[in-house]
Parts: sequence; C-alpha cells; structure tokens
Amino acid sequence: MEKHLITFMPDNVSVAVREGTNLLAAAKQAGIDMSSPCGGRGTCGKCAVKVISGSYDSREDAHLSEDLKAQGLVLACKIKVRGPMTVEVPTQSRLTEHKVLLGSKRTRFTKENDFFATRKMNPICHRYCLRLDPPDLVDNQSDWDRLQNALRKQHGLKDATIAISCLQALPAAARLGNWDITVTVGTLLGVPKVLTVEPGHTTRPTYGLAVDIGTTTVVVALLDTATGRILDKAGTYNKQSVYGSDVISRIIYTDDHPEGLALLQKAVLDTLNELIDGLLAKNGIDPREIPVLVHGGNTVMTHLFLGIPATWLRLEPYAPAVTAPPVLRAKELELHINPDALVVTIPSVAAYVGGDITAGVLATQITRSEELTLFIDIGTNGELVLGNNDWLVTCACSAGPAFEGSGIACGMRAMEGAIDSLEIDRETLEAHCGTIGKIKPRGICGSGLICALSELKRAGIIDRAGKMLPHQNQRIRLGSEGMEYVLVWADESGSKQDIVITEGDIKNLLRAKGAILAGIRTMLNLVQLEMQDIARVYIAGGFGNYLNISDSVRIGLLPDLPREKFEYVGNSCIQGAMTVLLSQEGLAESLDLANRMTYLELSNGNQFMDEFISALFIPHTDLNLFPSLQTECPGSAQALRGEQEGDAERPTGAGGPPPSSQES
Ligand code: FES
Repeated sequence: MEKHLITFMPDNVSVAVREGTNLLAAAKQAGIDMSSPCGGRGTCGKCAVKVISGSYDSREDAHLSEDLKAQGLVLACKIKVRGPMTVEVPTQSRLTEHKVLLGSKRTRFTKENDFFATRKMNPICHRYCLRLDPPDLVDNQSDWDRLQNALRKQHGLKDATIAISCLQALPAAARLGNWDITVTVGTLLGVPKVLTVEPGHTTRPTYGLAVDIGTTTVVVALLDTATGRILDKAGTYNKQSVYGSDVISRIIYTDDHPEGLALLQKAVLDTLNELIDGLLAKNGIDPREIPVLVHGGNTVMTHLFLGIPATWLRLEPYAPAVTAPPVLRAKELELHINPDALVVTIPSVAAYVGGDITAGVLATQITRSEELTLFIDIGTNGELVLGNNDWLVTCACSAGPAFEGSGIACGMRAMEGAIDSLEIDRETLEAHCGTIGKIKPRGICGSGLICALSELKRAGIIDRAGKMLPHQNQRIRLGSEGMEYVLVWADESGSKQDIVITEGDIKNLLRAKGAILAGIRTMLNLVQLEMQDIARVYIAGGFGNYLNISDSVRIGLLPDLPREKFEYVGNSCIQGAMTVLLSQEGLAESLDLANRMTYLELSNGNQFMDEFISALFIPHTDLNLFPSLQTECPGSAQALRGEQEGDAERPTGAGGPPPSSQES
C-alpha cells in the first residue's frame, strides 16, 4: 500500500505512514505524545490539530468545541491519511511533562533512616563473599555442591537453588578466583536462590529497584539494598496514556484491538525501561548489577504490565485474573536489568484495590497502631482503607475522572499551566489563580477544582447544591453548556480561550467528592463508628499530595476533623515497594495484609447509594457531620434534602469499575 510523508510542526519531524493511517497513530509513530484521554475513540475532544496542508478524510468532530472548530482545528483521531500532510500540534494537545510525585512529603518516611527504627534490615537480595573448598582426587564433589556447602556453613543459607546462567558461569568463576567467589542471593519467603556469580571477592554495593506503576505516571527508585540508601529516583508519564487516560479506556482498547494488550504491555515496559536506562547510566551502574525489582500498581496496571488480559476486571463480578502473581524473571518481561533478576509484584486485594494500596498500608504501618486510621488514595477511583492493628476494611468508590480534569469543560491533568489554586474576591468576585510552573493558565486540574468549588461557595456564587446564584457580574454568564463562571479571560490564558467552570462541571465534582465521602461513611457504618472516631487520616497519591485539606473539608470531600489528624504520605506505593525490597519480612507482610483486608463491594445493597445522595451537597445534607462549618452553611439541612433529592444521580458504577473518560 502507498505510503505518505506526514510532517508534524513545530517539531518538524516526519514519518512515512500507509494510506488510511489514523493521524493520531501517525503522531505516535513520529514520537509525538498527544493527549488522548479517550484512547482515540473521538469522545474527549483533546487531540485537536491544525492541518496546514495535505489530503485526508475526516469524520465528524462532534466532540470538538465550537471555539476550536472556529480556529480551524480538527480531531487527529478522526482523520485518515490520504496523501502527504503537514500538521501543527498545539501545546494544549500534547502530553507535557506531568507533575510526577517521586517521593514522600511530610511522612514518617521522609528520613531514610526511619526504616531502621521500625523494621529489621533484611533485603531480598544480598551479596556474599565465599571461600569454596578446592576439589582434589579425594574430594571431587561438584562445584555447585561446594557452593551450597559454603552458603550453608558460612552464612546459614540452606536449600539454595541456582539460576541456570549462574550454573553455566560457576566453573570458570570458581577457578578464575582461585575458589574465592562472590554470589548474589535472592531470598523469597525463606527460599534462597543464587542470581549472580563472579570470581574473587567484591565489595561493590548490591542494588535494587522499587517501582510504582501508576495509570498516569511511572516512578522508579534505585537503592543500595545493603545500606537502605536511596541513590536516585526518576519518573515520567506512563506511555499507555496515549491509549486512554484511565484504566477503563485502556481495558476497552485491549478489547477492541487484537494487538491491544501487547501494545499496552509494550508501552508500560518501554516507559519503565527508559527510566531504568536513564537511572543506571546516570549512576554508572551496569544493568547486570540489578538482581531485583519490586513493583506495585493498581490491579489493572499490574495485569497489563504482566500481559494478563484485564477484560474481566470491568465486568461484573469484577474478578481479577490474579491478585498475587508469581515472581518472574526480568528476561520474561524484557526488562533492562539482569536477565535473571527477580521481579516481585506487591499483591492486590480486589479488582479496584490494587498492590499500590497494599503497599501504602504497608508503608504507613496502619496495622501497627491501635488508633483508628483512614488511608485515602484519590484518583479516578477513590481507594479507601479503614482500620487498625485489629482489623482492616477497604473499598473502591467511583470518584469519576473529574479530579483528573476529565469531563470538565476546561479540565486538565496536573501539568504545567494547570490552575492548582485560586482565590475569589468576596466583593468583586474576581478570581486570582495560581498555576503549576507559574505560567499562563491553560486549564484547571483536580486540586484547582476543589479549591474553585470551595471558593465559589464561600463567595456566594453557588449554593449548597452547586447551582449558580443570580449576580450582576460579567464573570457569571450563560455559556453554551449553561451557567458558567469565568476563572480566566482569554487574553490572560495560555490557551487563548476563556477558562470557565460550568454548572455541569460542578455537578461532576459534587458526584466525585460525594462518592469518596459516601465510601468513608459506608465503611464506618459497617463497623458502627463515626467520622469523629478517626484518629488519623493518611492521604496518598499524586493528586492527594496537592490537596488543600481545608478546602477539601469545606466541600465535604474529607471528614471534618482537626487538621493535625491529616497527614500527606506522598507516593506511598513506592515507599511500600522499597520496604519489600529492604525487608524479606515486608514481602510476607504485604501478602498477609492483602489477605487480611476485608473488601467491601459498594454496589451491593443500598447503603452506599443513600450515603452518596446525602453527600451531593456542600458539604453534606447533615451539617452535624461538619460541626466546624455550621456557621458557614446556615439553613435547614432537612429542607435542603427535600428540595434536592430529585437531582441526585447514581455514581457511574458505584463500587464497580471507575467510570471512564470515554463515558464522560
Ligand atoms: Fe481524539 Fe479523544 S477525541 S483522542
């Protein structure tokens, strides 16, 4: 079939593609990562490009805003190449560097040495210098027997096994080192395995990698596992993002394309391998020196990373293929480390409570305290864990993609140019916005949306049900989607368009925050406790780390508790992965935690739905649950409930899979 040259500007990169190729796919081939939250299904309207010249077929751009159409933009995913083309990709259609949460912030893990205060240092992989007994005509037992004897006698390691590559290297290494050898041994659940063999005695450090495979970002930490020192970290956005911004879009992509699963697995492996290559090159470490990698992620990410079909995770009864996958070898995944390196997966609990949550519970040590603790990880899905040293309950509530900026008129992810904080003047109703990277605003991200909701309510622009109140102010106007408030005028915005928040956006936000609070209340009801009984709240995850606690309480997303009870724990997934890397007991503990967590399926019964309806107001229909806000929210809660019940809607897939940006 004929090929055509497509040139992307302003990068000025070209790629030859077959007649009929989708333009979004061509951009990907050219190495241009475009924003495509819906995975190219034409429903998100984010892949807008300007065709400067060339021939193409285009299908209808129903999801492209009128403004962008007027500027001559078209959706790349709706275009089929019919001849040579030159295309301009505007900044707002690109995946720019995501704000990647590499580590922790204000946690008990901020000092690396804290690990030693609570756990015994006992890394999965350890390097041993051994002296083997040289053979002679009287003692001519095998080299491997000699190595096993030395491990047992010199280091108490019994019943060791060995990788075939080490067995192949052993005879020469033993003789070259004059029977002094150094081995790296990986011990999993008490079973030691020799992973590397080299002649002589070496004092080089032993390294390991801890990995967080998130839907949006992937983060890798490089550790010296003998000392527990974190040598370096790196993170970037997950290359799977071009197939859809959320887990459901990506599962659908694998279902709709015969090669979809392989492509998604390759995308995340490429992301991880590039990060590993960069980290090892920067630190002058040979890839063969990495004998172990521990990773955590949500259940869908773990399935896709391992190449396991995720289809059934989004279908009732939401059964995963596996929660505790076996330990793999790096060569089975073509990871750029020692081919025999152990690849350890932190176990999941259920389809929507993954290894990242198990890792977070491990890292925050909830089970080491009698205090009632709530662990929250907010993203497209809100994953919650409640418990103490005695018991643990967990659930996943479908917050929807609003906090990720999806389904919001001017929503965007937490990238440069995203409004992440704002204030509204109570007198003039003028907005003052702060952005990531302190550049001109291009849109608004989750933390900005929470702030906006709180400020709109406090400034009297919306009522408790999220409806805009009448005002004589040019910022409050009737837009194409209904009433809206203008946060930033076009001449001050990086997108050259007004940045607005609409009543529809507010409705989506109320549903998202309502689902989280309803999840918390449903878990508390199960154990017959109240919000005031919670002694500590850990907020995890990339989004959670930038939440303004006061605003989150004001809108009724978080329980009304003294601020000192809240603690940001940052990327607790990578903290948990590091814990497992440095402690053989940590791996056993993670398996035990995943088994111990009682999973509450919220789609069973009506309780979650009742709580959800009550939580669709700012902050809630029952103001007694938010005592510190009662002076801010006068009025009869009962009257409000009666007035608004008709408006309440079921959250998409409550307790089941999170809604997808495709469905928004
Ligand atoms: Fe093209 Fe979503 S509309 S990727």
